[in-house]
Amino acid sequence: MDVRRFDSADQVAIAVAARVVDIVRRLPSRAVIGLPAGRTMVPIYQHLRHFASTAPADWAHVHTFQVDEFVGLPHGDTGSFRAFLQRQLLDGLPLEPSRTNFLDGEASNADTECRRYELAIANAGGLDLQLLGIGVNGHIGFNEPGETLTARTHLTTLHEETRRANATWFGNHESRVPRQALTMGMGTLLAARAVILVATGDSKADAVTRAVAGPLTTQLPASFLQLHAAADLFVDAAAASGLPTG
Ligand code: GLP
Repeated sequence: MDVRRFDSADQVAIAVAARVVDIVRRLPSRAVIGLPAGRTMVPIYQHLRHFASTAPADWAHVHTFQVDEFVGLPHGDTGSFRAFLQRQLLDGLPLEPSRTNFLDGEASNADTECRRYELAIANAGGLDLQLLGIGVNGHIGFNEPGETLTARTHLTTLHEETRRANATWFGNHESRVPRQALTMGMGTLLAARAVILVATGDSKADAVTRAVAGPLTTQLPASFLQLHAAADLFVDAAAASGLPTG
């Protein structure tokens, strides 16, 4: 993984947003981008909306795919990752709505929904760029640490620390955070032609160090990004504090 260090989270956000715009410009009529939710993404999406309104790019042909979604929330629930993406990014970009793709956390059959999603990604031509945040326990998407990892989009049970970290989107009521989610699998994420992992703040320093410099382990899903030929880590000084210098 190539590590790109910046002094502040805002500098990280500008650099990542610029990379997204660059991909959209270099792949007119077809860029396919995977989008996560999360606090880390808020300033990135803010800069991306700004770039989109000030610099020309062919957004109408961009396909977007959300990375993960809670299970069981009613459509339109403000805590859903779909609502987050609409609010923070999609409503501010000149996208064609039929090319913005979401996981349906209300689907009656999760397996069918996950297969539909994998097919939709394939039909769009596969992911050109996968943006990712990282959980404090090293999860990417909602691929949680454990004895095993799952290759493709699947239904998963969230760890308690992950539910705690996501209480923000539910008025800080952890009890309201769903226990299950749908997520792109490790193979789905690693099949993207380029990956940008973003981490900011002290709380991510340990997971970042283990993801970059530790062994490949299912106990730290982000460590598998070491296998990707075009994965870049964008970090601020706080998140990079445990990384070897130089
Ligand atoms: C969440 C989501 C991820 C996100 C990560 C980091 O639980 N499943 O998609 O990238 O954890 O979130 P944050 O940026 O809020 O720290």
